[in-house]
Amino acid sequence: MTMVIRAVQNGFAGVVTGIDICAPLAPNQIAAIERGMDDYAVLTFPDQPLTDPQQVAFTANFGQLEITLAGQMAKPEERRFQQLELGDISNYAKGDTTRLRERADRARMYALANRLWHSDASFRAVGAGYTLLHARIVPSKGADTQFADMRAAYDALSAKEKAEVETLVCEHSIVFSRQEIGFADYNPGFEEHLKPVPHKLVLTHPKSGRKSLYLSSHIGGIVGWPVPEARAFLRDLTEHATQPQFVYAHKWKVGDMVMWDNRMVMHRATRFDDLKEVRDLRRTSLKGVGLEVKAQQATALAEAAA
Ligand code: OGA
Ligand code: MN
Repeated sequence: MTMVIRAVQNGFAGVVTGIDICAPLAPNQIAAIERGMDDYAVLTFPDQPLTDPQQVAFTANFGQLEITLAGQMAKPEERRFQQLELGDISNYAKGDTTRLRERADRARMYALANRLWHSDASFRAVGAGYTLLHARIVPSKGADTQFADMRAAYDALSAKEKAEVETLVCEHSIVFSRQEIGFADYNPGFEEHLKPVPHKLVLTHPKSGRKSLYLSSHIGGIVGWPVPEARAFLRDLTEHATQPQFVYAHKWKVGDMVMWDNRMVMHRATRFDDLKEVRDLRRTSLKGVGLEVKAQQATALAEAAA
């Protein structure tokens, strides 16, 4: 069996066949997937019937797994999986896979912010590198996940715009994305997780040297800028970066594993009839290696600008 990657569009997003990711991988296979991620930023693996432990084992080939914030914030008895590495991306009611979440369910309200363009965990000092989503049950219509190529979006800026964004530092917090949809119902004790963290707006890929825009709905300001000016600027930039020519929409089939690099793409969920149909995806993600360096630089730049 030989692994093959076929690009979906303009060198963005690749479909991977000729590999069984449920089984342990050989070092050359891991390296080939990493190269694929460097090139395509999003990889999809159709027909991979992974179990939870197999998803965790596959993810661990590429780095250190993240603990989900939603899982941490939920009380233990509210969690569907006791393993905090496994994110529950489903619309099941709390602790009950025979019922769907009701309209005003708090977890449903929180998860609706996934419909905003974002980069996973950018509200942490070190955001996520790869995120992996595996489809167990998908609805009959809707619920595509859309991905926008932040390298192509950067490349398409004018020289003047590139110079303007080069040194900017943005402030990210989970509070900003939730504010956008009107959610503020946090459990007490997580104040530390709500504080803004600085990240550079322009990232440089450590291997290819390609630059990308580190945009996210978690951003609420730019260091040294008045807030309304920053928000208006970021809104324009996000509109630019998510034009159709930069976007790939993944239409889910059961057994699909999709992995993306949050340092190169933004993504968002799209609507489906979630009060009537089940959608059950499992998520794992990795700490963003390389982003810790950028976070240090951003802190230094932010202090210099203050
Ligand atoms: C996520 C996410 C999108 C989706 O799990 O981080 O943004 O389509 N999911 O569920
Ligand atoms: Mn996400």
